[in-house]
Amino acid sequence: MTTMKALVYAATGKPTLEDRPKPTILKPTDAIVKMIKTTICGTDLHIFKGDVATCDTGRIIGHEGVAVVEQVGDKVSHFKPGDKVIVSCITSCTTCTNCRTGMPSHCTDGGWTLGNTIDGTQAEYTRVPHADGSLHRVAKNASDDAQLMLSDIVPTGYECGVLQGKVKLGSTVAIVGSGPVGLSALITSQLFSPLQVIMIDLNEKRLSTARSLGATHTVVSGPNAVEQVMKLTAGRGVDTVIEAVGIPATFELCQKLVAVGGTIANLGVHGAKVDLHMEKLWDRNITITTRLVSTTSTSMLIKLVESGKIQPEKVSTHNFAFGDIEKAYSIFGAAESHNCLKVVINI
Ligand SMILES: NC(=O)c1ccc[n+]([C@@H]2O[C@H](COP(=O)([O-])OP(=O)(O)OC[C@H]3O[C@@H](n4cnc5c(N)ncnc54)[C@H](O)[C@@H]3O)[C@@H](O)[C@H]2O)c1
Ligand SMILES: [Zn+2]
Ligand SMILES: [Zn+2]
Repeated sequence: MTTMKALVYAATGKPTLEDRPKPTILKPTDAIVKMIKTTICGTDLHIFKGDVATCDTGRIIGHEGVAVVEQVGDKVSHFKPGDKVIVSCITSCTTCTNCRTGMPSHCTDGGWTLGNTIDGTQAEYTRVPHADGSLHRVAKNASDDAQLMLSDIVPTGYECGVLQGKVKLGSTVAIVGSGPVGLSALITSQLFSPLQVIMIDLNEKRLSTARSLGATHTVVSGPNAVEQVMKLTAGRGVDTVIEAVGIPATFELCQKLVAVGGTIANLGVHGAKVDLHMEKLWDRNITITTRLVSTTSTSMLIKLVESGKIQPEKVSTHNFAFGDIEKAYSIFGAAESHNCLKVVINI
């Protein structure tokens, strides 16, 4: 077979299922993988709105997936045909300065490339560059749906939110944004036994999912949100506030919620400038962090999924056959009216 089906960022600006040539090995460090499952990310929706300047029309979209290795280049040493793998949203050469200092998302020959600067995973086959640094063998005793969530959303919530935010035993946490990434931060924050995790969102259904996933409190975002969080924390605010939306209003809300000595861990992707209220924050000993997911935690997260300590498949709400991926886009694109969080696409 030399052609395959793939979801393309068409010149019309729409997600379109097309016939494309099956990818081939271009470099000896490449692998060709046959996709089993993929999913759609909020970032993919940004591509279709024209917000991602690095992604040209004609690109096959997608940076998440579970797959089977079909073919490897001569220099791939850790994987062989038949291995079942998670495709990380970040490809990593493992040897550049940024990879060696724990920031593969800033790899000088990788980073977020799949479904952005090179063809991605919403296809029957994908070429994965630097396969040794970019693929992870799946755990045998865990479901594909759970491990699909480890390509992007779970490492993002954990690394950019929980770790950067220094969530710890007995601490107080607020997570602004109860989408798939905010919920992933909620799931992984509980590994550190914080006293409170307060989820904040506009959407009551998403807040009810958050309660079922372990949120100690939920607050509807709006004029009373700050007052409610202050009431829940005896007027202190929270030690960690995780920004998981990416708009000025929510980053400003985070600045009002952080306690003295606390941390604002931003993981939302921002497209507009935001005010930083130094006139209120200069003397409050706070830390503000930003991060693009590294996926350096993925191997550990696979073990947590296998042991049952975390169950990220609970964030998936819809299943589609690959032939229905255009419909999946329209449902994911209007996620709130469909009570949709993460969609699983079976290829
Ligand atoms: N830093 C990284 O490496 C990285 C990686 C992946 C995703 N992201 C980003 O993380 C963010 C979250 O991703 P997601 O997939 O969960 O997105 P999402 O759009 O599904 O969720 C965002 C949530 O924010 C809520 N929201 C909107 N306005 C709000 C307000 N004023 N107050 C409170 N809540 C509000 C929405 O109701 C929604 O539930 C996005 O910005 C995404 O681009 C960052
Ligand atoms: Zn993503
Ligand atoms: Zn690198």
